[in-house]
Amino acid sequence: SDSHSKCHELCFYLRLSGEKDGVIEITSRNGYLYLNGSLDRESKATHRLQVEALNEAGVKVKGPYSITINVQDINDNPPKFDKSKYYGAVWENSRSGKPFMYVSATDHDDPTTPNAQLSYSILHHFPNPYNRMLFQIDNITGAISTRSRVLNRQKQDTFLLVVTVKDLAGMSENALTSNTDVEITVKVNIWKAPPKVSIKENSTEPHPINITQVHWNEPGAKYELLQKEKLPRFPFTIDQNGTIYVTEPLDREEKELYSFFATAKDGGEELGRPLPIYVQVEDINDNPPVCQNALTIFEVQENEGLGSNIGTLHATDMDKENTINSRLQFRIVEQNPKIPSENLFIIQQEAGTFQLSSSSLNKRVVSNYSVMVEVTDKVFTTLCDVKINVIDINDQIPIFEKSDYGKCTILEDTPVGEVILEIQATDADEPFTGSSQIIYQIEEGDQNKNFIINTDPETNRGFVKINKVLDFEMSSTYNLTVKATNPEPLVHGVQYNSSSIAYFRVVVADVNEVPVFSKNTYIAPILEDVSVGTLVMTVMANDPEGDPIRYTLESNKRNWLRIDESSGAIYTAAPLDREVEYEYKVQVTATEQNKTSQRSTAVFILYIKDVNDNPPRLAKGHHLFFCHPLRGGVRAEIQATDDDEQLYSPEFTFSLGDSENIKSDWEISRIDGTHAYLSPKHTNLEEKYYSIPLIINDNGKPPLEGNLNLQVNVCRCSDEQRCFIEVEKHSGMPSTGMAVGILLGVLIFIGRMEKKPGSEFATARETLYIRSMFKPLKSLFPCNTFI
Ligand SMILES: *[C@@H]1O[C@H](CO)[C@@H](O)[C@H](O)[C@H]1NC(C)=O
Ligand SMILES: *[C@@H]1O[C@H](CO)[C@@H](O)[C@H](O)[C@H]1NC(C)=O
Ligand SMILES: *[C@@H]1O[C@H](CO)[C@@H](O)[C@H](O)[C@H]1NC(C)=O
Ligand SMILES: *[C@@H]1O[C@H](CO)[C@@H](O)[C@H](O)[C@H]1NC(C)=O
Ligand SMILES: *[C@@H]1O[C@H](CO)[C@@H](O)[C@H](O)[C@H]1NC(C)=O
Ligand SMILES: *[C@@H]1O[C@H](CO)[C@@H](O)[C@H](O)[C@H]1NC(C)=O
Ligand SMILES: *[C@@H]1O[C@H](CO)[C@@H](O)[C@H](O)[C@H]1NC(C)=O
Repeated sequence: SDSHSKCHELCFYLRLSGEKDGVIEITSRNGYLYLNGSLDRESKATHRLQVEALNEAGVKVKGPYSITINVQDINDNPPKFDKSKYYGAVWENSRSGKPFMYVSATDHDDPTTPNAQLSYSILHHFPNPYNRMLFQIDNITGAISTRSRVLNRQKQDTFLLVVTVKDLAGMSENALTSNTDVEITVKVNIWKAPPKVSIKENSTEPHPINITQVHWNEPGAKYELLQKEKLPRFPFTIDQNGTIYVTEPLDREEKELYSFFATAKDGGEELGRPLPIYVQVEDINDNPPVCQNALTIFEVQENEGLGSNIGTLHATDMDKENTINSRLQFRIVEQNPKIPSENLFIIQQEAGTFQLSSSSLNKRVVSNYSVMVEVTDKVFTTLCDVKINVIDINDQIPIFEKSDYGKCTILEDTPVGEVILEIQATDADEPFTGSSQIIYQIEEGDQNKNFIINTDPETNRGFVKINKVLDFEMSSTYNLTVKATNPEPLVHGVQYNSSSIAYFRVVVADVNEVPVFSKNTYIAPILEDVSVGTLVMTVMANDPEGDPIRYTLESNKRNWLRIDESSGAIYTAAPLDREVEYEYKVQVTATEQNKTSQRSTAVFILYIKDVNDNPPRLAKGHHLFFCHPLRGGVRAEIQATDDDEQLYSPEFTFSLGDSENIKSDWEISRIDGTHAYLSPKHTNLEEKYYSIPLIINDNGKPPLEGNLNLQVNVCRCSDEQRCFIEVEKHSGMPSTGMAVGILLGVLIFIGRMEKKPGSEFATARETLYIRSMFKPLKSLFPCNTFI
């Protein structure tokens, strides 16, 4: 060459040897390594080369130096499924999440890069009678499982899934994909809960007794019972054929319904869902009647007449209530003494109520009778003892020691149960009988039942107590009328009169109480752009004593609010910002002005509603490129977003900046509310970077505008439709007509052009990295200096 002849004897030239594979070459004078053709990582990932410097005479003067070229992977191999169609089967109603089949695909790209990282997903699902996804796939393992237990052969017994596999871990729109069909058959599931089992309690048959059975679909399952509740004993077992046994007699009176689960396992893992097992224990009459009291005592006045009701004997039976097993019947079997005759008393057979059968009782002759009652449930019989005391006639009324107990003053916060007054009446009838015993009742003045009176059975003294909390503000005085009566009826001709009545007055003294807010929590919505000093809400507290109140705010962290001390009006005190805090919570305190220890608090929440205060911005489309020379119809997608609260789907409008140049070269077209295409208007754009002003408007109130510049590269592209950087021409470079690329550096593209068949558009979102890998080589042979 020309340079050669200028070079004289000082000049060197370079020779490359090794795994050139007809593609890697060197410029012999200035040491540029270049590619004359393309490399394929999948056929050869590493090229080992040697370079030597030779003088004009062809004698080696330096070297050899070794060079290793690692070919970096690009995603040029799509994943491939191992089979074109897969077949699987699943039990109906089977447990969700348990894989029943796997699909698998391989990708020849570099397994250490995302190019060979596969992600599986279900694309279609035919048919879909349930209107929701029935199956799911593990995106990494390809394991297919059901999502719920609804699978039912009757409804649909085969399904076809279309499964997609994507490389680039499924995270990029530029991933390569492939699909496969998966046919799934639903199999009959015999793993079903058995019907409820009924067992008679207290069985005398030999145990264990087989009560029911469960079956897993295939042999070899291990069965277990799972308890649902903690029981003192769990009298059931299951054997390896799935047969469930009761191991001992059950007792309905201990537990009437057992509910537990049967599971089938394979190793540690449950094969199907646990089946619920219910065992109902049926009642038999195995419990005798029981007398409620060891001795039941009744009183009867000696003058009472025939049929008079004396009292009721109570007995119980543990067997199931409202069944024949717990039906009790009563019969008097003995009466002592039999004076003046036998059968002085009648008992109602079903109810156990005693009545007098004659009116011939005389306390001086017989003061008490012992009666034995037989209670039977038809199987068991129990005897209950009853004592009937004959008492004096009730011909005396209770007489109060005084009719007016005057005034009794108490504080309104006197605790419930406290005795506030003692009262006394006396009765001249036979002591310690129903004829002399006194019951005090408040007849008037206590609608709310704030008071109650208990009687001391020894002394008939009455204790007036507080029954419910008093409230001065509700009622400050009570004028009370108390009546004293006997539990036994008075004899004919005697009546209670005003001597059995007493009065007293209760005066409730006020206690200073804390102010009361009208609500515990106040909530106020507000727009975030309101001006400082806007009235938000007025809170209100009332002091029961009517003392004036002062309002203050606490935990007002951001000082966004202030309160008017006397009115309780809350105002904004600073600009609000929903994006900082949308639920601003403070405490309002109401304090009595005269006594500051009397205070109470309420919560105040300010809900800050969004105002459109964030302009739209670009979500996608920061790096766009088009291949030069341009073809008609190419376009690139951009996406916008903004940070305001998105209650409804946002509606952005896209437009180009106001520059004639730009508008004659580019146009923008709407796809939907968030996406648009950028496309060149003609094909004579130069090969260079374009900065295109873009305006995005949102539909908020008020609308906001985002102004930005799209950086678009119109570049030469490789065969794979990637931006391609050509090294500047250097002297001594081979100048063949073909495209000689990638010289000073290696280009690595993350991503790929998306070229859909039948359409001419390309979406370009590449990021371009350049690494100067061959710099050392240049400094090693600074040949330029010789020329
Ligand atoms: C590139 O390779 C072709 C044949 O594959 C060859 O004819 C041509 O000379 C080579 N060019 C350079 C600059 O090495
Ligand atoms: C794969 O599944 C995991 C867990 O279910 C999930 O977090 C991840 O986002 C999925 N990846 C893709 C690409 O869908
Ligand atoms: C079983 O029945 C017998 C009488 O039939 C009774 O004595 C026994 O108490 C009953 N056992 C239980 C646990 O109820
Ligand atoms: C299970 O069933 C088989 C066949 O019916 C029987 O031979 C075997 O004894 C049973 N096993 C148990 C533990 O009952
Ligand atoms: C019951 O009557 C018996 C004699 O019938 C008598 O001895 C006994 O004191 C009486 N008991 C009472 C509490 O009246
Ligand atoms: C209670 O009685 C007193 C006098 O007996 C009377 O002055 C007062 O008004 C009465 N109060 C009520 C609430 O009835
Ligand atoms: C009430 O009746 C009793 C007799 O039962 C009598 O002693 C008393 O004086 C009467 N009281 C009045 C106020 O009439």
